[in-house]
Amino acid sequence: MSHILVSVAWPYANGPRHIGHVAGFGVPSDVYARYERMKGNDVLMVSGTDEHGTPILVEADAEGVGPQEIADRYNRVIAKDLCNLGLSYDLFTRTTTGNHEHVVQELFKQCLENGYIYEGTQKVAISPSTGRTLPDRYIEGTCPICGADGARGDQCDNCGNELDPDELLNPVSKINGETPRFEESRHFFLDLPALAEANLAWLKTREGWRSNVLNFSLGLFKEVKPRAITRDIDWGIPVPVDGWIDNPNKKLYVWFDAVIGYLSASIEWARRQGDPEAWRKWWNDPEAPGYYFMGKDNITFHSQIWPSELLAYNGKGSKGGEAGGYGDLNLPEQVVASEFMTMEGKKFSSSRGIVIYVKDILDRYPVDAVRYYISVAGPETSDSDFTWSEFVRHNNEELAASWGNLVNRVANLLNKDFGCIPEIQDSWLTEEDRALLDKGLQAFDTVGGLIERHRQKAALGEAMGLVGDINKYISAQEPWKIKDDPDRLATVLHTAAQVVCDANTMLAPFLPHASQKVYEAMGGTGTFSPLPRLEEVEDLDKPGFTYPIITGTYILGENVHPWSREDIKDGTPIAKPTPIFAKIPKEAVQEELDRFQNQLDERKAKEQARFEAEQAKLKERSEG
Ligand code: MF3
Ligand code: ZN
Repeated sequence: MSHILVSVAWPYANGPRHIGHVAGFGVPSDVYARYERMKGNDVLMVSGTDEHGTPILVEADAEGVGPQEIADRYNRVIAKDLCNLGLSYDLFTRTTTGNHEHVVQELFKQCLENGYIYEGTQKVAISPSTGRTLPDRYIEGTCPICGADGARGDQCDNCGNELDPDELLNPVSKINGETPRFEESRHFFLDLPALAEANLAWLKTREGWRSNVLNFSLGLFKEVKPRAITRDIDWGIPVPVDGWIDNPNKKLYVWFDAVIGYLSASIEWARRQGDPEAWRKWWNDPEAPGYYFMGKDNITFHSQIWPSELLAYNGKGSKGGEAGGYGDLNLPEQVVASEFMTMEGKKFSSSRGIVIYVKDILDRYPVDAVRYYISVAGPETSDSDFTWSEFVRHNNEELAASWGNLVNRVANLLNKDFGCIPEIQDSWLTEEDRALLDKGLQAFDTVGGLIERHRQKAALGEAMGLVGDINKYISAQEPWKIKDDPDRLATVLHTAAQVVCDANTMLAPFLPHASQKVYEAMGGTGTFSPLPRLEEVEDLDKPGFTYPIITGTYILGENVHPWSREDIKDGTPIAKPTPIFAKIPKEAVQEELDRFQNQLDERKAKEQARFEAEQAKLKERSEG
């Protein structure tokens, strides 16, 4: 048994999450965590909402409310959505907790003491019309690295590189189109060059990474510069240094604090368990791997910034040093980054209405139909496109027709002919029966091996291949035609039921809700596949501050089924089944496409109006 940390990217609490987000970090991390628990490993799966920095400020400004209000609102929305998707976090928390602030400041102070954080000057953008600093995300320009237009002051989405706003060519304010001016300001820097050698050495020992993720990560080390880790901003974690801590206009950079969330959430989980040191089994034991799940725009922060922060904390860069009270902290075992998902051929964009929110799709369709689609057609190693017609097709042809009908047919025959799992003798098994039983048994290793290597699409393909084999077996044996040989009928149905249960076990990480129902249809009782729950808790350090967490109880043998064949038991009663998967009517596709087009038109008009209003303001100012 090993301890396995499943670290899931922290969604910004600046709006509801869409299907592209959860295809990248959500469902794949949950499939992996569920599988490792079934294998008997001790999994700690953590995440939360990312609530600092300009993404939250931008939304607060747009809605005319304070940033904490935005964070509170969307933390709640996101936690609920992710829970409804069945994502089995041990703890899903947030970055505005007292615990997170404390852990982040501890890390900062130790890195400072070890010499990897130092004070210097940085050019920051100022809006000439208001005199206020312009946050990175408000600035757009041409990327100095790849030449793409539309790069932001913090990052270029085209090449994925992290940027400083003053590096952009032809920078303009996204708010009103004016050109910012740059002024010098005091800031703290993370000395990435002093950590680069150790960071790169770690990267070079990585095995089993997706080649595009590894190559991109290696590329980050061609040129390494120190990075400012504080900002001229009034929303974020205070800088724990005399003369800074009380400055309302200087805060830690959101990415410096967010990645520390993996550690702080582990600590919060342990504290909430009443065993405050329990997190160490996942962080201080070098044999305990950590798998980090995210979309590809997060790679630099997990292959460079986070490992460098950890190395700085551990005192493992060129300047030496020693670890603080948290001890030597593990670097990631693997950065499991997925590519991007588009929607009907267009790049997802909430502001432009190219979006389908998690809540909306779950309101209209079964949760496992959504999980299935993401698993079968998600952007695992190349970009992929969400289309309504494919969503409906995968559900109808694969879940409903192939898998659902099979379960229904087998349960129905068992119910009608025996009312239970019939007793059979080994000697009754024919070559065909044995061949199918062997396939079921072997599939555990094939499917499991693929999930371990983060090839979930192929894993699901193998599991559905087994479903296809059972269907072929049933078609060939035609049990409904066996009239006068009860032993043969019992053997066929027993064999089919056994392999249906095998396939259901293998599908459980992908389809936790449906697999519970299949389990019950095959006579199982109790919990087969556990679901997470939302709980309202009080902050451990800030009395009166309450928030929802996602948590759960996931115990092998109690409510987590092992990743292996469980022999079905003779005499288990089988009730008349009710259908588990429903077909989605074909008309749904056109309805959804119409809805999508209306949404696009609406948002376009809104965006245009907002930009024009800002430009009018700008004109007024320059005239008045
Ligand atoms: N909030 C970031 C995003 O949505 C992801 C942060 S991952 C973290 O892109 F680990 F750094 F928190
Ligand atoms: Zn670029």
